[in-house]
Amino acid sequence: KVVAVIMVGGPTKGTRFRPLSLNIPKPLFPLAGQPMVHHPIAACKSIPNLAQIFLIGFYEEREFALYVSAISNELKVPVRYLKEDKPHGSAGGLYSFRDQIMEDGPVQILIFYLCELAFLSFLIYHLERQLCYSCKKNATPEQNSLIFLLNCDVCCSFPLPEMLEAHRRYGGIGTLLVIKVSAESASQFGELVADPVTKELLHYTEKPETFVSDLINCGVYVFTPDIFTAIQNVSTQRKDRANLRRLSSFESLQPATKSLPVDFVRLDQDILSPLAGKRQFYTYETMDFWEQIKTPGMSLKCSGLYLSQFRITSPNVLARGDGMKSPFVAGDVYIHPSAKIHPTAKIGPNVSISANARIGAGARLISCIILDGVEIKENAVVIHSIVGWKSSIGTWSRVQGEGDYNAKLGITILGEAVTVEDEVIVINSIVLPNKTLNVSVQEEIIL
Ligand code: GDD
Repeated sequence: KVVAVIMVGGPTKGTRFRPLSLNIPKPLFPLAGQPMVHHPIAACKSIPNLAQIFLIGFYEEREFALYVSAISNELKVPVRYLKEDKPHGSAGGLYSFRDQIMEDGPVQILIFYLCELAFLSFLIYHLERQLCYSCKKNATPEQNSLIFLLNCDVCCSFPLPEMLEAHRRYGGIGTLLVIKVSAESASQFGELVADPVTKELLHYTEKPETFVSDLINCGVYVFTPDIFTAIQNVSTQRKDRANLRRLSSFESLQPATKSLPVDFVRLDQDILSPLAGKRQFYTYETMDFWEQIKTPGMSLKCSGLYLSQFRITSPNVLARGDGMKSPFVAGDVYIHPSAKIHPTAKIGPNVSISANARIGAGARLISCIILDGVEIKENAVVIHSIVGWKSSIGTWSRVQGEGDYNAKLGITILGEAVTVEDEVIVINSIVLPNKTLNVSVQEEIIL
């Protein structure tokens, strides 16, 4: 059995994503017209024998309920949201749901679909008992199971079948996706050294202060169930150390030093660093695109990367237009079917327009994300910007960023329900929800 787990974090994480994460959990923010988490989920479809997908986070369950049920039906793979009562760290979160992750097998999947037919509930009850019994008799050894673990805030082509194949060749507890980045940017990630021939992970340091390597951890892994033992070992060692400290501080009457809770385990610092060089982990290097999505600027860049990937994987999702009956479309563009675009508007490249947006005559949109219910009036220009839900941009106005996706004010962001009045220019600025701009601003954060 193969399962996939996507770590979605919770409301106390993703703070660099504000003001956009004030309205919606970051994993549900749309990139290329689909929630951020949809892209790794859709990629999981390419894993052979995939039984189930779990999202683990500490957001309220109701925030994911609609999405999870819609995507389960669409992909025909059960997707479940599992809520942590508090943050347990990237490995601790996985460990806290080990029973659900390992136990849910084909029987439960069958039941998942049957449950949709409520009138058959009595029959399902008996079928479940019958199937569970025969399944237990022929149970596949747990050792044959594999768990994919994906960070929700990375954008890449998710080469999961290739990783699976590499992992089967290497053996070990797990294989992680890695990529070469520039030496200047490497320190924002986990830097690692791998054996050039065997691909074994030899050394791992999380966000080091001094340069180690330009090869970094992409936050995409495949593990055997032995990963649970490795996590359990970290907790046990921590518990033992805490007991020791308590005893020694009792003897010396010194206050015990504070350490991490025993059930808070980080995949990188607590598992990969100590186990590197012990023939436990291997690496698979991607030559394709990869980015991390921590800020609104990066979400705009990644929306563009996913749109260009659609050109190869699902070209019918992209808008086509010639400026006659439909607007003129340049490059990769997504337009929700309910959006109303005037035929004289010119849209693209890298534009994503959500539901019920209205774009007026002569408007020009380049490199932007337009969220639900936005109105862009006649002859307005929007470039390198994200326009929040139900905002309105007046006639002949200009909302623009310089397009530096890594800089804090490198794009313009309008929060929910912002009004930019007619003929107002907003450049490289962040505007918090419910503000009205009647004068032009540049490089400002409007609170
Ligand atoms: N459910 C849950 N619970 N998810 C969590 C928790 C937690 O307690 N803590 C973190 N996550 C999720 C985040 O939402 C994110 O998807 C992923 O786990 C990793 O988050 P962090 O642990 O904050 O690490 P990071 O994103 O700064 O860096 C990690 O990913 C990089 C690749 O994007 C590291 O593994 C780096 O080495 C790696 O380069």
